[in-house]
Amino acid sequence: MKVMSVFGTRPEAIKMAPLVKKLQEDPYFESVLCVTAQHREMLDQVLELFQLRPDYDLNLMKPNQTLSMITAGVLTGIDEVLEKEKPDIVLVHGDTSTTFSAALAAFYHKIPVGHVEAGLRTYDMYSPFPEEINRVLTGHIASWHFAPTQRNRDNLIREGIDPEKIIITGNTVIDALLEVARKPYEFENGVLKDIDFGEKRVIAVTCHRRENLGEYMHHIFEAIRDIAEEFEDVEVVYPVHMNPKVRETASEVFGSCPNVHMIEPLSYQPFVNLMARSYLIITDSGGMQEEAPSLGKPVLVVRKETERPEALQAGTVKLAGVERENIASLARELLTDRAAYDSMAKASNPYGDGKACEKILEALKWAENQSRKS
Ligand code: UD1
Ligand code: UDP
Repeated sequence: MKVMSVFGTRPEAIKMAPLVKKLQEDPYFESVLCVTAQHREMLDQVLELFQLRPDYDLNLMKPNQTLSMITAGVLTGIDEVLEKEKPDIVLVHGDTSTTFSAALAAFYHKIPVGHVEAGLRTYDMYSPFPEEINRVLTGHIASWHFAPTQRNRDNLIREGIDPEKIIITGNTVIDALLEVARKPYEFENGVLKDIDFGEKRVIAVTCHRRENLGEYMHHIFEAIRDIAEEFEDVEVVYPVHMNPKVRETASEVFGSCPNVHMIEPLSYQPFVNLMARSYLIITDSGGMQEEAPSLGKPVLVVRKETERPEALQAGTVKLAGVERENIASLARELLTDRAAYDSMAKASNPYGDGKACEKILEALKWAENQSRKS
């Protein structure tokens, strides 16, 4: 069975890497990897860590790219790859512009699509933007849906997707996380090497969502600065996303704050170790909401909504919104009230047991046998 996997950004790469590795190892499959490089440096960090060599690299990234630029670039770039490879199935992941455009291109070639991380929804078309619509549209193009949780499956069924085509697998991010977290690791980054994680309380921060750019991001960063100024034993470590708009706001707000350390994006292994050694995480990332429950680290999600309510229910994650005072007061509570902290800092696995990739491979074999019979 010839399987072509397509991804382009950091989170897709982290979540697809263990799956592509498994496809490459299993003689049942011929694996073809096409990266769009919607991200460049942040994608390459993941490819290097997991030692993946793409068969095709569309090298699309442009500084300050618009959504239309990415969409058009993927559609035209992937056309000839599909024409040449003629895979039996195209696998895409999640909700990026790469995801939707690659799925659409596969559909134009009448090639079935398998959607990994299917069925997440906020039901607000502008939040996350444009991801909510990317995943809804991809879901309606896909033939096979690999849903991380029962709730994701239910969402798809409500939209009229055939239940027989939905397989609950857990999230492949847990496969990636467990593989990376079990290896011993010493920090190489100078800032991280110098922090005494025993004495200091480290807050790991990331923030990049398009709907937060501008005013909301300002409020979020001001709240984090308030906390850094208030607590002497806190060190904030912020690997800043490479989006120039994010970098501009971060420098404006954190410029002169001695215990806020803005560093370059970390490769996945140091980043997982940073999360694991941190006291608290403040983020608008989707993936980190899935990783943190496994690590037992409290997360304040600086967004107005989340498509990952399982983490809220598990208690590890709180929705902090985008208002300065609210974010600061929730962080303050976790830094001063031990009982409040302990009630969040508990490990659980709502997103799976690290066997999602195995389940997807089994499902692909089953799907191929079904289509042979019919
Ligand atoms: C994209 C995805 C988002 C995902 C996020 C993960 C879309 C619409 N958005 O958003 O779903 O959560 O990635 O990070 O698909 N840049 C670099 N080097 C890099 C990466 C980015 O310089 O390695 C800069 C470029 O100037 C680029 C800009 O960041 O134009 C924005 O990248 P883009 O992929 O358009 O949007 P993200 O906000 O990263
Ligand atoms: N991550 C990383 N290095 C960093 C910041 C994040 O490897 O410097 C990882 C993080 O653990 C998670 C993923 O990147 O698995 C999240 O990516 P991002 O925030 O870019 O996208 P999102 O999760 O919001 O889609």
